Amino acid sequence: MNIIREYCKISFLIRFLFLLGQIESIIGLILPNGGISRIAVLTSGGDCPGINSCIRGIVKTSAMRDIEVWGLPRGLPGLLYDTPHAFKLDETYSSTDMLKKGGSRLGGFVSSDFKEFDSMILDQKASKLSNAVENLGIDGIIATGGDTSLNLIGTLLKHTGRKIPFVGIPKTIDNDIPEVIYSIGFQTAVSTASSALANIRDTAESHRRIIVVECMGRKSGYLTLHAGLAGGADTILVPEFSIDEKMLLNHVSTIYKKNHCAVIAVSESITLPQLNLVSTYTTADGSSRLGGSAKELASFLSQSLSVDARHVVLGHIQRGGSANAFDQVLSTMLGAKAVTVLCDGGTNVFVTQNGNQIDTISIDKVRDVPSKSLRSDSPEVLAALSIGVYIGEVI
Ligand code: F6P
Repeated sequence: MNIIREYCKISFLIRFLFLLGQIESIIGLILPNGGISRIAVLTSGGDCPGINSCIRGIVKTSAMRDIEVWGLPRGLPGLLYDTPHAFKLDETYSSTDMLKKGGSRLGGFVSSDFKEFDSMILDQKASKLSNAVENLGIDGIIATGGDTSLNLIGTLLKHTGRKIPFVGIPKTIDNDIPEVIYSIGFQTAVSTASSALANIRDTAESHRRIIVVECMGRKSGYLTLHAGLAGGADTILVPEFSIDEKMLLNHVSTIYKKNHCAVIAVSESITLPQLNLVSTYTTADGSSRLGGSAKELASFLSQSLSVDARHVVLGHIQRGGSANAFDQVLSTMLGAKAVTVLCDGGTNVFVTQNGNQIDTISIDKVRDVPSKSLRSDSPEVLAALSIGVYIGEVI
């Protein structure tokens, strides 16, 4: 008898919860904008061109729907303070200037910003977050970020146990987010790096030098390869393909004999074990970062070929500056779409352009998935091989 009674109780509870869910969905359908009247926006991870035009797209689309937009200048960690960091975005955030302004006007956050709250256990953070969201009257959150930061936000929001709708917008100059063809910021960074490569060729030609130019991109070679192709680099070294020392020297010396100069684009994370080539360095605050490959390679080439070889590290120049037209359009489309996805009841997804449409992809789909990287059959790899550029040992 007891078992039957328990069974009835459980089955009643399940039906009750199911009904609650149904009622909630029906209310969502009836209410304007699916019940979304205040959205919070945050920008996570490294900045890049196009973030501000994305915020503009969000603010303008929301204004058309009478939705208020609030900014979280210190991201989710900013909501953990006793007085949460949040403010209503004024009309300057929808101004035309936002289309071109580089960086993140709102201010970004990186995972280390959570350090200050290390003493709190996850449950405490989640409960503080949940209270802040409730007190601020936030109905949904939109965040720009890479796969790591979007995953982090999604997980934390889920942990609150509250239904906090969340939509991500992929941005990074690295273009390494799985399922994303072009992330916001990538095309502008390619333009910046390729213009630098072209400038460098002018001076390399004048002084009969080899100049090695280091590009960012973490463990993916997209930025270096695209910039190298657009900037006419003679050799482009990316982390995806191993480098054969002899092949590299043959290639560079042939180019040098013909042109009396050579421009080499290298990714910040290439490795050349034979040379003990280092591609990490320690910053002033003691954290480890990728970089240093260009310096080592220039010195190796100089010694091996007896030629004056120099190096240039493009660094954060690639992250700043005005977004180009491609990124202005892409970020506007994604910002606008993120708002409509929230209003249609979407959550824990990110939006991305796929051909002629914007897809909505579950953030879970990119959880624990390796970053996107070049393959031997990637079109840009095949193009580089076709025009005779050495890019490492492509098998
Ligand atoms: O992910 C963007 C990026 O610029 C990478 O290309 C680079 O390795 C890294 O960020 C640099 O990060 P930070 O600015 O924190 O040193």
